[in-house]
Amino acid sequence: MQVRFGSREDSVEGIITKKEDLQAQLNDLSLEEKIMQLVQLPGQTFEETAAVTGLADMEKAKKMKSLAGSVLGLHGVDKIKAIQKEYMENHPHHIPLMFMLDVIHGHDTVFPCPLAQGATFDPEVARVGAQVQAKEAAADGVQVTFSPMADLVRDARWGRVVESTGEDPYLNGLMTAAMVKGYQGDSIADKEHVAACVKHFAAYGAAEAGRDYNTCEISEHTLRDQYLQGYRLPISEGARLVMTSFNTLNGIPSSGNKWLMRDVLRDEMGFDGVLISDWAAIAEMVNWGFAQDLKEAAALAMDAGVDIDMCTESYSGSLEALIEEGKVSEALLDEAVMRVLELKNDLGLFEDPYHGASEERYKEITLSKDSREKARDAVRKSLVLLENKEGTLPLHSKKIALIGPYVDDKDTHSAWAITCNKDNNVTLRQAFEEEFAGSDVEVKYSNGSLMVDNDSDLGFLKFHSDTFREDNDRLMKEALEIADECDTIIMCLGESLMQSGESTSRAKITLPEVQQDLLGKVKEKVKKLITLIFTGRPLELGDIPEASDALLICWRPGTESGHGIVDVLTGKVSPQGKLSMSFPWSVGQEPLYYNRFNTGRPKPSEGATIFTSRYLDCPNEARYPFGFGLTYSEFEISEVKLDKASIARDNSSYDKIVASVEIKNTGAYAATQTVQLYVRDMAGSVVRPIKELKGFKKVSLQPGEKSEVSFEITEEMLKFWTASNKFESESGKFKVFVGFDSATENEAEFELV
Ligand code: BGC
Repeated sequence: MQVRFGSREDSVEGIITKKEDLQAQLNDLSLEEKIMQLVQLPGQTFEETAAVTGLADMEKAKKMKSLAGSVLGLHGVDKIKAIQKEYMENHPHHIPLMFMLDVIHGHDTVFPCPLAQGATFDPEVARVGAQVQAKEAAADGVQVTFSPMADLVRDARWGRVVESTGEDPYLNGLMTAAMVKGYQGDSIADKEHVAACVKHFAAYGAAEAGRDYNTCEISEHTLRDQYLQGYRLPISEGARLVMTSFNTLNGIPSSGNKWLMRDVLRDEMGFDGVLISDWAAIAEMVNWGFAQDLKEAAALAMDAGVDIDMCTESYSGSLEALIEEGKVSEALLDEAVMRVLELKNDLGLFEDPYHGASEERYKEITLSKDSREKARDAVRKSLVLLENKEGTLPLHSKKIALIGPYVDDKDTHSAWAITCNKDNNVTLRQAFEEEFAGSDVEVKYSNGSLMVDNDSDLGFLKFHSDTFREDNDRLMKEALEIADECDTIIMCLGESLMQSGESTSRAKITLPEVQQDLLGKVKEKVKKLITLIFTGRPLELGDIPEASDALLICWRPGTESGHGIVDVLTGKVSPQGKLSMSFPWSVGQEPLYYNRFNTGRPKPSEGATIFTSRYLDCPNEARYPFGFGLTYSEFEISEVKLDKASIARDNSSYDKIVASVEIKNTGAYAATQTVQLYVRDMAGSVVRPIKELKGFKKVSLQPGEKSEVSFEITEEMLKFWTASNKFESESGKFKVFVGFDSATENEAEFELV
């Protein structure tokens, strides 16, 4: 049967083809054709370049290639058009292939990594970034992005914290929902937008001991109260896909977890889009020891409601037999296929299988001035100033030395900016040269050291150089010479690009030793020392804060790195970023997060500490807590005023308390401060965290200017997963805190009655 699909004129908000047409299409497919809609192949299969994971048999791969419903990892208009054309001509029903790719924080114009975007505390930055990425990626042939990652992260050893917006579920929800909005726009059929995929469901960020792909053991209470929270908002924002996670959750791999996927994700959270496995995660259930073989893995995944099998032969090799044997019902298969067809339809692929991909448009819009300006703005807003002794910054000096491996290194994006052409990244050196050309400021440059220690394991490669010592000594000598000629030194240090991202867990989270040595030697020169750190995770900073007169966390800032950083260093804008993850004193504190429990024996701030919950050799608290970040100015904050002492629990009254403070810019610079609202439920049927972020506002003030900032506190905001296994509030006493970071003690009390 031939189905005539509707034309764009019939379309209602991007829905082009009627559901009945899709049903007719589905009915027309053979069993094999239906199964293959659920199979995603890696791009290499189509390019025939490299060996393909899990698909060693090329003959089989070729057959799969002609029917597989989607492909990941490809971009490039000509390539995608050629593949799509050939595919559709050969497909018995001319159903289009769907093209997916990880566009995480930039396609060509790369924005700061998600952890840095979290530090902006500004969802608009995330929305705008995602919009730019969607526009570039869609023009380049991409239809679906595997982003945002809404995993809650609490352990800096885990390399994938770089992909998260941080350790707070409320912030994560806001930032990732904004990303979904930016990627998808009003309609995914629009050629400037792509479908978004929330990942990795669920709790991937809780990998035990921060080791990637490791098991996660989380009570149902903590799962629901903390870990699931961040996924809710981006899903309710309408993200069209969700991806399963690699981990087990309390012994069950996510891709086979029926309770998690059907009861929680679909029934409770109302997700009705496409559920895709992570790469090979269905087959990995065999490694976990949850399925005996690929066939059993396929049955478990289907039962759990996983629609697409990413890059294994589980579905393609077993579903037919499973259906024939009655172990998987055809109705279940049809349900999954329909979701895939609906996504293709909503993307408008039946009308335009290229989704508007256009070489001409791609060239015109990519890395445009406007996109770069947006990325530059995001960099400025994401930088976090941790130290600024005696107003060291903004820069005052006319004789500056830039020293360190990040002076001119183009690898300022993250490993997940996979399509980034690093030649487009603006380094610090480039930006300094632009900034000070023709001025009386003299700037000298030296790499000072190699990026990493010899024989470092960098995942894809082991870094080794036979001439490491000589090369490093030479760089150090050069650096010390230029240090002599300047009065201010800007150390440009950091983790290598390859030290954060997937499969980059670290048991030691310090800077490479070569860089620490360099800093130690330069410090002996007794000059003003400003340290910039490029990183994809919180680091154990050791002596760096003491050694530095100013310390700025730059994260992995992307294309506009140099420009955005120079804007801040020179004081064109004051820094305003706030840590999206706590920085520890020691890796031994990990997992470390501000919203922890008090324990029955909290450590007193003064007096005897024996038999209290503490370390003998390290504080309990973070060195720099979540929400912390300085500006160039100073701010005063008044006590918290509440407009009344209690709030009614009865939801129907829509009761609320208004908490307000006055803040004043008492310093010499115009600056933006992020005022943060935290709440503590003093006693609950389940113990509550010592603080939880419930709101924040960014306030820009001129020197001497003041402003009243107020927050409404409603009963809704006080709900949590109680001992009755419900999301509800409980009456009792609460504390409310309003301040400039999560360590604030500026508090007031109220009651929920
Ligand atoms: C990662 C996912 C990613 C997928 C496809 C996996 O290894 O865990 O986050 O989307 O690969 O590239």
